[in-house]
Amino acid sequence: MKKSRKKNKPRLVFFISGRGSNMKAILKKIQEGKLKADPVLVFSDNPQAKGLEIAKKYGIETKSFSPKDFTTREEYEVALRDMVIQAKADLVVCAGYMRILKQPILQAMRGRIVNIHPSLLPAFPGLKAQKQALDYGVKFSGCTVHFVDEGVDTGPIIDQRVVPVKKNDTVESLSKRILKQEHDLYWRSIRDVLKKLP
Ligand code: GRF
Repeated sequence: MKKSRKKNKPRLVFFISGRGSNMKAILKKIQEGKLKADPVLVFSDNPQAKGLEIAKKYGIETKSFSPKDFTTREEYEVALRDMVIQAKADLVVCAGYMRILKQPILQAMRGRIVNIHPSLLPAFPGLKAQKQALDYGVKFSGCTVHFVDEGVDTGPIIDQRVVPVKKNDTVESLSKRILKQEHDLYWRSIRDVLKKLP
């Protein structure tokens, strides 16, 4: 980030796969001085991710590679780990990163990887959480920030927001209502996690 980069602030590495609206909301809070952190790198497994353009506008280094750039899936996982170590990341922030993280990075960054999920976990983990909620007929859903572990959206919960499901909601309308809360929740959760990091 061009402005306000100082030494000694906790270093964030973002993992994204798509549009990057959660990442952008966090970057805005950093720029406003509300979140004291240094976004040092944005990684995407998808070179076309819109979020990479946002990162560049903020002057943040970007990297993109995917499993198909490697002979084995393990080599990809090792490359992820080596990348965050090289970036001296204090916290890895998954924001719409569409892959499950594996052992090498989990081990190296234990308790230092967070994710946001658009449901009230443990309900509706995995893909299409908003559709799952609508199909089930719940009256409330929401979003969850959690630490990442070996499972799919199973790690310890950091914080949640409840969002009502309305009678005529579509996946789009519910997703929009939840996303608004995601944008307000994620940076606060990161702030809380950073305070407690050793
Ligand atoms: C968000 O709904 C987030 O909860 C989920 O993926 C979506 C990413 O959106 N993990 P964006 O890329 O941050 O706009």
